[in-house]
Amino acid sequence: MSGEDGYFDEPVAARYDESSAEMFSPERVDPVVDLLAELAGDGRALELAIGTGRIAVPLAQRGVPVHGIELSKAMAARLREKPGADEIGVTIGDFTSTRVDGTFTVAYLVYNTINNVTTQAEQTETFRNAAGHLQPGGTFVIEVGVPSLQRLPPGETVRPFDLSPDHVGFDEYDVAVQGLRSHHFSLVDGSWQYLSMPFRYVWPSELDLMAELAGMRLRDRWSDWSREPFTAESRKHVSVWEKLR
Ligand SMILES: C[S@@+](CC[C@H](N)C(=O)[O-])C[C@H]1O[C@@H](n2cnc3c(N)ncnc32)[C@H](O)[C@@H]1O
Repeated sequence: MSGEDGYFDEPVAARYDESSAEMFSPERVDPVVDLLAELAGDGRALELAIGTGRIAVPLAQRGVPVHGIELSKAMAARLREKPGADEIGVTIGDFTSTRVDGTFTVAYLVYNTINNVTTQAEQTETFRNAAGHLQPGGTFVIEVGVPSLQRLPPGETVRPFDLSPDHVGFDEYDVAVQGLRSHHFSLVDGSWQYLSMPFRYVWPSELDLMAELAGMRLRDRWSDWSREPFTAESRKHVSVWEKLR
């Protein structure tokens, strides 16, 4: 890891919006904001890992007060440059443990970022921390991929996930510890750059148990933000847990 900003240091932050451009499209963002605004109701929203504000900025523009927790000062600095960002509070820290004043009606952690904490204990602490910020009846929302082990041939540890002219990506699995390391080769300004990042993949049922440990219960699980059913074929899920009253 490069320093106190973690893997999302200045060079990564500088390219984040461009390299994730498709995730910033209205088709991707609008259904997320629709659901989160509905869950927030008249209350406040807390984003764990707010990043450069991909979701927080449009959610705040809908009139929902948003606060974010973010490890990377470089990512938070990009957020602060954006129009409307002065409405959004950001606390620099680790979302497994950082506390923010006040209570919230919804907390959310999207774009697979629960996987960025690489131990089961830290993922469980993330649920406890989210629950600690919620009003009774408030909800915690996670968007994360279903571990794609069915696509890993027996005996193999590496799977390609992208093969484009300017990016090649491989995922490397360590099934003993639910480890997943993504290797990225990106063409930047005419030269290839290499970056690798560790993750911990996590099962939907395991997340439900983490929620139970944190005093929450599963309310909904969909296969995407437009609330399509979650099935055996689903490659990701959007799950909503409610803090028990
Ligand atoms: C893939 S980006 C997602 C950012 C934003 N939520 C979005 O949807 O665009 C992951 C973010 O998580 C942040 N992050 C990773 N681990 C973190 C942790 N333990 N605590 C706080 N932020 C963390 C990174 O710095 C980065 O900004």
